[in-house]
Amino acid sequence: MENFTFYAPTYFVFGRDAEKETAKYVKRFGGKKVLIHYGGGSVIRSGLLACVKDGLDSAGIPYVELGGVQPNPRSGLVYEGIELCRKENVDFILAVGGGSTIDSAKAIAAGAVYDGDFWDYYQGKIVEEALPIGTVLTISAAGSEGSPDSVITNDNGMFKRGATGEALRPKFTILNPALTQTLPPYQTACGISDIIAHLYERYLTNTKEVEVTDRMIEALLLTMIHEGPRAMEDANNYDARANIMWAAMMAHNNSCGVGRSQDWTSHDIEHELSALYDCAHGAGLAVVMPAVFTYNMEHNIMRFAQMAVRVWGCQMDFEHPEKTAKAGIEALRQFLISIGMPKNFAELGAKEEDIEKLAHTACYGDVRNGTLGGFVELHQDDVENIYRLMI
Ligand code: NZQ
Ligand code: ZN
Repeated sequence: MENFTFYAPTYFVFGRDAEKETAKYVKRFGGKKVLIHYGGGSVIRSGLLACVKDGLDSAGIPYVELGGVQPNPRSGLVYEGIELCRKENVDFILAVGGGSTIDSAKAIAAGAVYDGDFWDYYQGKIVEEALPIGTVLTISAAGSEGSPDSVITNDNGMFKRGATGEALRPKFTILNPALTQTLPPYQTACGISDIIAHLYERYLTNTKEVEVTDRMIEALLLTMIHEGPRAMEDANNYDARANIMWAAMMAHNNSCGVGRSQDWTSHDIEHELSALYDCAHGAGLAVVMPAVFTYNMEHNIMRFAQMAVRVWGCQMDFEHPEKTAKAGIEALRQFLISIGMPKNFAELGAKEEDIEKLAHTACYGDVRNGTLGGFVELHQDDVENIYRLMI
């Protein structure tokens, strides 16, 4: 295991009606003037936004609002949010919604206290200062509710890039699984796919002797394989939703990623697809993951075989472990298809003729240096080959 530091100070409030306590936590973490940030309207329709505003009104905490965050959140709205915060002397950002809303809130929080262009953070500058952020989560997926990361698409060139920094970890997060019961099945499935991807990105490591985090990842994957279909079958299954919600947070707050190298190839390759075609991140990952794993399998067959046996229940073939490794990747692919995820480029709305451009942007776009991948170092031709496996 490698040396590491780990500090994840988010205060979690979990369970039915938890959103009614939002104002209490805004106050506890020093919010005196709040920006409420939300998406395309689901929180209006569900009554969640009204509930949160009622709470702030009762607590005497003033607020301004900025809605309209799109899935794959855009830089344009971030600039608008930064201006609004400065004009209104906002000192606390409250994200009410999904990962896109939380990521946009994080970008605003960092940009509002920074003299330069907030995009600097999405080109590699670490976020050391930001306004405090609280979140009320409505979809189990991205894990942004407990992560120090934010992913934004730049309108200028449609690059999708991430920023990171401990200052971006939410001060508190409200998790009421019942709030996810209004999700359309497709979005529930996209969330399941993304959670699984966050676990694979950490499992695919070159670090030896990481049994504790291997076992944590396997446990979370087994939970998703059990609970995912239950939530798909019955959208109102609170217990399935609750287990998925906590798994999503655990999968990405990095408690199971410490002390080991991580991969993130599937994410980098997917981000180009959601930037260009505006597909859902989880749907893109469902197509990308089997292709990336098939391409990289030879690098460490035993790691894929271990996953196949421990998580997917495959029989170990000691003479031909590559067969076991392949069976595990196929089991993942079939699972994702079974919950309604797309299986190839066409179903995602992606085009074969864009492959060279996609691979070039993944490797060289914005501030990239020509390679990607923490498990296997990949170059543009490798990335093109991986995209071709998705056709
Ligand atoms: O915009 P509204 O109207 O709220 O509708 C949303 C949106 O259309 C809807 N939705 C959310 N909760 C709902 C609901 N509809 C009905 N009932 C509810 N309870 O679902 C749609 C998707 O929402 P979005 O926030 O985009 O989903 P998600 O949480 O999957 O976030 C995706 C974004 O997170 C980024 C992705 O790249 C993508 O841009 N990621 C962020 C990470 C991070 N910050 O740590 C890590 C991830 O790997 C990921 O890259
Ligand atoms: Zn993801």
